[in-house]
Amino acid sequence: MNGTAKKLVATHRATEEELFSLLTDPSEELRRYLQEEALALKRKVYGDDVYIRGLVEFTNYCKNDCYYCGIRCSNRQAQRYRLTEREILDCCREGYDLGLRTFVLQGGEDPGFSPEGIACLVSAIKEQCPGCAVTLSVGEYSREVYALWRQAGVDRYLLRHETAAPDHYRILHPQRQSLDRRLQCLQDLKDLGYQTGCGFMVGSPGQKTEHLVKDLMFLQRFEPHMVGIGPFIPQRDTPFAAYPAGTAEQTLYLLSIVRLLLPQVLLPATTALGTLHPRGRELGMLSGANVCMPNLSPKSARKKYNLYDNKLSDGAEAVESLKALQQRLESVGCRMSLCRGDHVHTNTSYNHCIKNSYQKGNGYHV
Ligand code: 5AD
Repeated sequence: MNGTAKKLVATHRATEEELFSLLTDPSEELRRYLQEEALALKRKVYGDDVYIRGLVEFTNYCKNDCYYCGIRCSNRQAQRYRLTEREILDCCREGYDLGLRTFVLQGGEDPGFSPEGIACLVSAIKEQCPGCAVTLSVGEYSREVYALWRQAGVDRYLLRHETAAPDHYRILHPQRQSLDRRLQCLQDLKDLGYQTGCGFMVGSPGQKTEHLVKDLMFLQRFEPHMVGIGPFIPQRDTPFAAYPAGTAEQTLYLLSIVRLLLPQVLLPATTALGTLHPRGRELGMLSGANVCMPNLSPKSARKKYNLYDNKLSDGAEAVESLKALQQRLESVGCRMSLCRGDHVHTNTSYNHCIKNSYQKGNGYHV
């Protein structure tokens, strides 16, 4: 096997030049080698456990206008919705009763929710669901707002950087959005003690190998706790409707490289990967992923959270089918874990799991 790949496996580091060579026309043999090493490393750090997060997509209003995204503010075709606090709490209650211990509240950047309103909502979830972790994923806010939410009990924050290359950022976003601001937000979140997640799309319009190299260099520097990567998939009502989707193969290869660069990272097999390939999630797990985020949103909302065409929202993607998800995970040697699944470097009294398997009927057993 080539020396660069071996060095990555042995040291979990790579230079720009090395990443460029790994990403340029990789042989089947190289892909397989890194995939197997990523899988072995994940097992060493996290065992066979795959952590399950209940995803609540609570608003698809968004003030941003990212060219790739189906809920961008200029999309007049999007049917907008906003869940009430009661509805969001009910989603979490349903998930809690199924045994879930992490809730991810995700939405567009919606001025219809005030920072104080979100803080109250989080406090209410924490009270209603003792011992759960709450992840927010609602975009860019000031450090003060992030501090307020942290105080309200938010444990984790997902904010994909989308691309770490300024020239590529400009292709994907209108002038009024800024990469510097986004990176500042990520730094603020980390400084405030959030388990912080960044990430990017694979195969987005204009993406070149050198851009992916920058993304991977950024991950090495920033050392996020979580990384969300999925293929770009066009959405018919966006300016990028006619661009080709990224590939599952390249997404899987990048998942492996991310695992090898950040051995302890919490790495989801994303919905986009599952949408692009019928066994996307399973292949993701075999490539180093260890997190799955089934959908907890009310059925009426799911179809409207239309980031890209044909986005999966039922079957094993839906929280009602945890049993089906469990079977699919077991088919690739994974064990579905319903515990909080904090990053290994996080100090919390909740890190021990109260259970490791889901059983229909009684929710869980201790
Ligand atoms: N294809 C794939 N992923 C997308 N996202 C937004 N639009 C698309 C698309 N067309 C991703 C972005 C965003 C996350 C919520 O969804 O990376 O951060």
